[in-house]
Amino acid sequence: MTPRSWLFIPADSDKKLGKSDETGADALIFDLEDSVAPDRKGLARDMLRAHLAARPPGARKAAFYVRINPLDDAALADLAAVMPAAPDGIMLPKTLGAGCVARLSLYLDAFEAAHGLPAGQTRIIPVATETPRGALTLAGFADTPLPRLVALTWGAEDLSTALGASTNLGADGGWALVYRMARANVLLAARAAGVAAIDTLYVDFRDDAGLRLSCRAAAAEGFDGRIAIHPAQVAGINDSFAPSEADIAHARRIIAAFDAVPGAGTVGLDGRMIDIPHLKQARAVLARHAAITART
Ligand code: COA
Ligand code: MG
Repeated sequence: MTPRSWLFIPADSDKKLGKSDETGADALIFDLEDSVAPDRKGLARDMLRAHLAARPPGARKAAFYVRINPLDDAALADLAAVMPAAPDGIMLPKTLGAGCVARLSLYLDAFEAAHGLPAGQTRIIPVATETPRGALTLAGFADTPLPRLVALTWGAEDLSTALGASTNLGADGGWALVYRMARANVLLAARAAGVAAIDTLYVDFRDDAGLRLSCRAAAAEGFDGRIAIHPAQVAGINDSFAPSEADIAHARRIIAAFDAVPGAGTVGLDGRMIDIPHLKQARAVLARHAAITART
């Protein structure tokens, strides 16, 4: 099942590492990049290595990813520290496009071989919009064979820094146009590449109602999950990216309507036309519900 909530945990905090087992997040992202100050990178690497070593694969409660530093920064040292623990995947920041994912994939080939891990098991989720070049070349993810690619996500903070912008918000308080474009293109590129789309973080971590509203809108647009920065965001994200009771009931009624007219390509339901895309969507809703139920 695609994780709904992806919780960031700064790897240089004993307290936060210690909390990670109990958060209920579908996936944890241990962070070695921007939540760790430059002079603490080595310490964070050592702390994460020790934390992971104390949790052999059978003892883990959630999928775990590691956000490494960018490829031209400390990526190899980060991979050397975490690959012995066989992470489910690597989050790659500041990507310039599909080529960066292909390069990381080659590194992972080598680390998997070195540590006796099954070839290709380590997944990759790039943060695909943190550089202008990345934001402009999203379609490349659909054009390049990238078997490790599991999802695309996006971020507004680094992009606005790169653009020299003083804010990433528009006059209405929502994302400014360039970030809305980047976000929409991430969803399109993820679907074109056949992988999940993960929405960026909701910065106000005490505003549960606002988070839920925003997540439900993202889920309705097609996003599969969302980055979390605080344990308090996990429940809101998990709830919002699971089909609701009403979604499930509606999907069952659509399937029943088609079952009642064998061979029909289109049927009426509540005075509205329903056709094959609706049937596929209804099946997808029930499959997602089943996967979430099986997990919990
Ligand atoms: N993972 C695990 N535990 C976390 C956590 C996280 N992401 N964020 C907070 N906690 C813990 C705190 O350590 C605290 O523990 P305590 O009760 O034992 O003291 C508890 O949850 C409550 O935290 P709170 O006081 O509400 O927040 P804070 O002020 O300590 O931290 C942030 C706020 C934003 C600094 C913190 O949530 C954080 O570091 N988030 C991740 C940031 C990140 O990784 N950014 C990079 C990706 S964009
Ligand atoms: Mg960043």
